[in-house]
Amino acid sequence: MQGLLKFITCGSVDDGKSTLIGHMLYDAKLIFADQEKALELDSKVGSTGGDIDYSLLLDGLMAEREQGITIDVAYRYFTTEKRSFIVADTPGHEEYTRNMAVGASFADLAVILVDASQGVLIQTKRHTRICNLVGIRNFVFAVNKMDLINYDKDTFDRIKKEIRMMTAEYDLDSLHIIPVSATVGDNVTVPSEKMNWYKGPTLLSYLEDINVRGTRDEVGFIMPVQRVVRPDHTFRGFQGQIEAGDVKVGDEITVLPSHETAHVKSIHVCDKKCDDAVVGEPCTIELDREVDVSRGCVLYRDRELEVSNLFLSNLLWMDDSYLVAGKNFFLKVGTKLIPASVTGIKYKIDVNEGTNIPCERIYKNEIAKCEIAVSEKIVFDEFEDCQALGSFILIDRVTNMTSACGIVLHSMRRSDNLVWQELDISRDYRANSLGQEPKTIWFTGLSGSGKSTLANALEKKLALMGKHTMLLDGDNVRMGLNSNLGFKEQDRIENIRRIAEVAKLMNDAGLITLTSFISPYANDRARAKDIIGNDSFVEIYVATPIEECEKRDVKGLYEKARNGQIPNFTGITSPYEAPENPDLTINTVGREIDDCVDEIIKYLGLEA
Ligand code: ADX
Repeated sequence: MQGLLKFITCGSVDDGKSTLIGHMLYDAKLIFADQEKALELDSKVGSTGGDIDYSLLLDGLMAEREQGITIDVAYRYFTTEKRSFIVADTPGHEEYTRNMAVGASFADLAVILVDASQGVLIQTKRHTRICNLVGIRNFVFAVNKMDLINYDKDTFDRIKKEIRMMTAEYDLDSLHIIPVSATVGDNVTVPSEKMNWYKGPTLLSYLEDINVRGTRDEVGFIMPVQRVVRPDHTFRGFQGQIEAGDVKVGDEITVLPSHETAHVKSIHVCDKKCDDAVVGEPCTIELDREVDVSRGCVLYRDRELEVSNLFLSNLLWMDDSYLVAGKNFFLKVGTKLIPASVTGIKYKIDVNEGTNIPCERIYKNEIAKCEIAVSEKIVFDEFEDCQALGSFILIDRVTNMTSACGIVLHSMRRSDNLVWQELDISRDYRANSLGQEPKTIWFTGLSGSGKSTLANALEKKLALMGKHTMLLDGDNVRMGLNSNLGFKEQDRIENIRRIAEVAKLMNDAGLITLTSFISPYANDRARAKDIIGNDSFVEIYVATPIEECEKRDVKGLYEKARNGQIPNFTGITSPYEAPENPDLTINTVGREIDDCVDEIIKYLGLEA
């Protein structure tokens, strides 16, 4: 018996997707007797003139859609004498691309419906591309509604040629094209008498027999470490699922990213001690010597894996907001979760035609080729070689929602030849010699909220207290270091990234750094906190309401913005995301500056 087959069906509303799967379940006697009765009764009042309407079996999604409920993915389980199946049923329309990607990412094989009376359509290309993008390498094209074209072989052959041309660009493990009629049942579970010219298997028997385990997963050994277990001082084991190949007691394995090697001392699968374990199995591995391993590391043998902090990827953008270069996320690959940013958008890929379109923004359901940088070197593989280490998701740092899923195309070499240089004079040494604890006091708030005034007054007071400080101010820095940046979203992201890096260097030099930037995006402030370090970063939200800022209008900018003379002006034509959990909130309305400064000094624990 073949192992479980997980597959997805792709087709649009009228392609007969539900009918095809419904017919398969019915013919193979895979529905319960009461469902069968209900189906016959329902069909009497349905649109098929009393014949059984097989699609009723699977119309759960349709019902959801009618009720306006969020449509996700419906999974159906069934078993024949030969095999068990899970089929993911997802809506095929373009606006549900995200759902299809979710369903497809779990599947080993895709059944793509093609309407015989229409041939390969734009949507067929889109479905194929998305399935391929998320890693499906086995495809069945069910050319449906053959009854409507009188089971014509020539038409089928023409469509077959179209499909072969369309799939030529993909590196597939298997491809099969079957002429079927989902309503009548030809070649669904029983060979068609009307299409003697087709000598291949029926859809069901093809699905029952196909071997979807490619040879790529069988070579060498890869296991991303999910957990380190230490039940007592005598045992230290590394747990994870084997993503490729096998492992035996005595094997020499390498740990990445440290490149240390060790031999396998023991292997446990569940609570049983074994001599070996194979791909797909979760196991615990004990090594014969102490090596530096934590969650996110990878154990491997006889494979080539990449260790880098920069790579090129194809990603499917799934967020309601759009993507611009520079945006920050958490990236999850294998078992590793790490801060990352999309450093460049090369182009978007037209999902229908496959053409490349240069662009600055990526909108929901679009696929784009992007450069991604992560905050430290991580282990990954090209998607073609190992799906587990070659696919990732981007998680929004503020909402925690999955913003995108993607695959790794290859690492970018330009980061490979850089090696961190350890310095003899350390940050601690410099801080000690100045006799203070370096911090970055990060002021955020609207233009005119009082950030610069407060930061300036605070710095004066700190200086009087003998502290060593530096103040980085928005307008000033924009006239120097950041003079090449404007106020579009990607420019602001880069502005804040550079300021965070500079603030960190100033902290490394032992200084207390004050920054006064609007820094309107929560994501970027979170990233700044990562760069500067949790313990050194103090976020102060200058919460002066916009009405008050506009009334003050010290620089006359609000008036200009209202007159349309300044595009993308924060609070008017560009958003400001107020901090949800700032360390301190200061509303300057009706308060003396000194009073606010004292509050900050007190918060910092620096009172004389
Ligand atoms: S940030 O958004 O990238 O953090 P930053 O603090 O550096 O902005 O610069 C803001 C200052 O630039 C404002 O105080 C104002 O003087 C000036 N400015 C000019 N154009 C704009 C604009 N479109 N939006 C906001 N500030 C602007």
